[in-house]
Amino acid sequence: MTTKSQQLLNWVDERFPLTSTWKAHLSEYYAPKNFNFWYFFGSLALLVLVIQILTGIFLVMHYKPDASLNASGIPVAFASVEYIMREVPGGWLIRYLHSTGASAFFIVVYLHMFRGLLYGSYRKPRELIWIFGTLIFLALMAEAFMGYLLPWGQMSFWGAQVIVNLFSAIPVIGPDLSVVIRGDFVVSDATLNRFFSFHVIAVPLVLIGLVLAHIVALHEVGSNNPDGVEIKKKKDANGIPLDGIPFHPYYTVKDIVGVVGFLIFFTAIVFFAPEGGGYFLEYNNFVPADPLRTPLHIAPVWYFTPFYSILRAVTYPLFGIDAKFWGVVAMGAAVVIIAFLPWLDRSPVKSIRYKGGLFKGILAVFIVAFFILGYLGVLPPTPGRTLVAQICSVIYFAFFLAMPWYSKLDKCKPEPDRVTFK
Ligand code: HEM
Repeated sequence: MTTKSQQLLNWVDERFPLTSTWKAHLSEYYAPKNFNFWYFFGSLALLVLVIQILTGIFLVMHYKPDASLNASGIPVAFASVEYIMREVPGGWLIRYLHSTGASAFFIVVYLHMFRGLLYGSYRKPRELIWIFGTLIFLALMAEAFMGYLLPWGQMSFWGAQVIVNLFSAIPVIGPDLSVVIRGDFVVSDATLNRFFSFHVIAVPLVLIGLVLAHIVALHEVGSNNPDGVEIKKKKDANGIPLDGIPFHPYYTVKDIVGVVGFLIFFTAIVFFAPEGGGYFLEYNNFVPADPLRTPLHIAPVWYFTPFYSILRAVTYPLFGIDAKFWGVVAMGAAVVIIAFLPWLDRSPVKSIRYKGGLFKGILAVFIVAFFILGYLGVLPPTPGRTLVAQICSVIYFAFFLAMPWYSKLDKCKPEPDRVTFK
């Protein structure tokens, strides 16, 4: 570095921990050298978060959260989205980046969570990383749900109507609670305004805070890896893990490969199939919201459907309380139970590489059940489909609740001392 720039850096370092932060979190942060494909998704989730925030800022410049009708009888909010699509220069691109970004976020985060399952990344000492992760997942669901109301199309309106009505099934406080959420007795302009406020500022702030906490917790204990071996247990004379490499430049460069691969896939959808075959943007949402016309079939966007199926699978009342309430409880429990994984998994090894056939088999059944639940959630219910959803819901919960037993019974292979790396 030239003396001038070194002097400037010294000046900053005396006032702000720039060099020490760079070293602690990048150039002298030692990550396991055996990261594979699955380790791309954390940085990709960060990338999508940035894409959503940037495109969101530009959308808000033209979007209007107003349910009243304009001179042509179209709701102002719906018309403002059409204005962005047709009149604002580049507006269509910004909007499609944001709407496709929502689905991409869930694809990336589901894969990121699945990596956690594969390699036991939630196990001690990473329980808090996992808990922050589950909270991020919940916040992300709230963010997506409220964002979906904003275009004020038929699915926005009726989807919100169905979901907010669910809260009214809670005994005693339910009916008042749903009025508080809506700000009205039906989904209306008041609902649109409060969802807008939550979607653009409240939930994003929570999300950013949680992501920071997630990464601070990760850097405190260090990353797990595909072998599930703690690299901090074997260090050289300088205290550097023998199987660790500096995050920068090794993983900053490697992550560029993931980013390029992701952007190819992402932009292909944005440019050639932004509706995602009706899964990313539902066809009914190109019709303005009409409180007097209920669509024949109301289905949430794909990323909610596994949990929506669990909700619909509960069809029996219990203790004199409506089945709808127990459905809401089951749906909530299906998300919350994920946070308990660190204490449910009692396997002697972390990584799937050293787990036995029992765990692998049960994990495979769980994945199949999760996909079936997701698929059934898009379809209208029939008695046969409800039965399949009930079986898959039982499998979903059994995967978690029976884990303390089968993870102990499983015949595991011994974990290696050091990471395997070719
Ligand atoms: C906005 C969403 C999220 C962002 C931006 C994010 C970001 C990251 C980043 C950058 C890493 C380090 C790189 C990597 O290991 O891939 C990481 C690790 C991790 N994340 Fe997330 N994450 C998010 C959501 C989640 C969720 C929903 C969960 C689980 C419920 C989760 C669980 C974990 C775990 C367990 C690790 C440590 C993995 C290991 O060391 O093997 N994350 N996250």
